[in-house]
Amino acid sequence: MYYSDELIEEVRMKNDIVDVISGYVRLQKKGSSYFGLCPFHNEKSPSFSVSRQKQMYYCFGCGAGGNIFTFLMEYENLTFVEAVQMLADRAGVELPKMEYSKEAKERADLKSVLLEINKAAAQYFYVQLKNEQGRAGYTYLKNRGLSEETIKAFGLGYSNKYSNDLYQYLKSKGYSEDHIRQAGLVSTDEKNGVYDKFWNRVMFPIMDVNSRVIGFGGRVMGDGKPKYLNSPETPVFDKSRNLYGLNRARSAKKSYFLLCEGYMDVIALHQAGFTNAVASLGTALTSGHASLIKRYVQEVYLTYDSDEAGTRAALRGVPILKSAGISAKVIRMDPYKDPDEFIRNLGAEEFEKRIMNARNGFMFSLEILEREYDMNSPEGKTAFFRETARRLTGFEDELERSNYIEAVAKAYKVSVESLQKLVTKTAISDGLAKPVERPKQAASKPLKKEDAHLTSQKILLTWMIEDKRLFGAISQYIRPEDFTEELYRTVAEMLYEQYAQGELNPAKILNYFTEEGKHREAASLFHTRIKELTTQQEKEQALKETILRVKKNSIDVQTRNLDPTDMAGLQRLMEEKKRLTDLKKLHISID
Ligand code: GTP
Ligand code: MN
Repeated sequence: MYYSDELIEEVRMKNDIVDVISGYVRLQKKGSSYFGLCPFHNEKSPSFSVSRQKQMYYCFGCGAGGNIFTFLMEYENLTFVEAVQMLADRAGVELPKMEYSKEAKERADLKSVLLEINKAAAQYFYVQLKNEQGRAGYTYLKNRGLSEETIKAFGLGYSNKYSNDLYQYLKSKGYSEDHIRQAGLVSTDEKNGVYDKFWNRVMFPIMDVNSRVIGFGGRVMGDGKPKYLNSPETPVFDKSRNLYGLNRARSAKKSYFLLCEGYMDVIALHQAGFTNAVASLGTALTSGHASLIKRYVQEVYLTYDSDEAGTRAALRGVPILKSAGISAKVIRMDPYKDPDEFIRNLGAEEFEKRIMNARNGFMFSLEILEREYDMNSPEGKTAFFRETARRLTGFEDELERSNYIEAVAKAYKVSVESLQKLVTKTAISDGLAKPVERPKQAASKPLKKEDAHLTSQKILLTWMIEDKRLFGAISQYIRPEDFTEELYRTVAEMLYEQYAQGELNPAKILNYFTEEGKHREAASLFHTRIKELTTQQEKEQALKETILRVKKNSIDVQTRNLDPTDMAGLQRLMEEKKRLTDLKKLHISID
């Protein structure tokens, strides 16, 4: 923990959640809560609610929820500590200098120096572009159709023809040679000493999702080689975890991203109004990219180059996206090479049509597969369908698989039944699945049961913060120790403590979870989706069943873990079991 609990709670209390979120989302008061359009998923009618009284938010549509720190972590993509710092700043709360370990401090210091250097370099390049020396660069960008606003918005610049002027400039600002080198901006050799890496190129600053400059791409103005020179990876520049244009695309309010290959493609698309375009940084798409994308959208339209390499890249990208839970579509760019050229020639409206006609990633991969077979011969066609069937077995979800089988059957004019048969046969012979007659779900059952127990525990926690009367009813029977998952138990202990003190404050509890994953999980405990129950009788019935289930599971777990020589423990368990039996006969009242 970096800051004291009291200080974090002070920061939280001085930042009213309704006020802060109002800066991001238009909220309207309805009853005791405020409602707006959820910033975490795409929706047309408001299901995002903020409670001033609880100082928590929750979306009934996508299940996002938490306190004000959670909100900023999710929305601004901050760490917990960064969220605390940002809100302390907002409320004028003075934070002590963080007590890092020596190593952590050095790492953090190095990173912030490198970011400063990058920022200074970006400003320098930008000024150069606007100067007389930068005329060639400026003209180049203008000739490629970029407007003044676009150049500014993307912070484009120019590295001039002097071999070490950036280095001199950065030195004059007080940065050390070592740091400038670590930022990837200079190289050294015996003959020339230290010299600038980028030289006579138009410069594309690469920013992270929070618009901090983390590296550069520099393009020759003409046909020289290499066409693009990119910053090396540095402590602040990880190519497999950043996407060009994401800092702008994240607020595009579209349910999908356009994923392309080049800097110029992103820029041209944004200029044409497609502000949801991003590009992987001259590297192949990684699972790191995919999980980054998943934070913002569930769907991606690949707009890769129409050449062989671009097609191959798209084919590689589809399964990577799919395994991150993102569905992929592929946009045709022909007869043009890439989105930039397409838009320059045919304009935004035609591009919009291509988006509408995008092909499903799987169907696209089949079209490419066709090229490997002689589709005019019966043997070729049969071989093609065998391979297609093999790929169809890759869809583990039954519904999804049968949807694809239908789509393929339709596209290739074969009957659904015969394709289905071929798929089943392939699955069996590949050993990927058992014949359909097998007893269903035998293997996956224990896992599901475990989940159900956790869900019951979550439901209790959600109820307990909803309503003091429920807290009273539940706490008569359930103790914090009955929550079998460690995180749940910790949260429960804190809640019981608060209840004893007469103040239920779940927003405060979230302060204690500073590690992002844990924080999100803890936040979810208070927002379990519970089926709408109407009558008092239904509610009481559900309450009783949930309490029984949690209690029984707790006893089971304790029994399993009991040391056979622990007589006192055994005694206690026997008593618990008896109480459980009594409880079954009891009526639990909410009033
Ligand atoms: P232009 O429109 O010709 O300016 O380029 P582009 O944006 O269409 O890029 P292209 O399709 O040629 O390449 C896609 C991306 O790959 C670029 O944006 C760069 O990030 C990267 N790239 C291209 N050429 C090179 C190169 O010579 N070296 C390196 N390291 N990366 C390159
Ligand atoms: Mn191009």
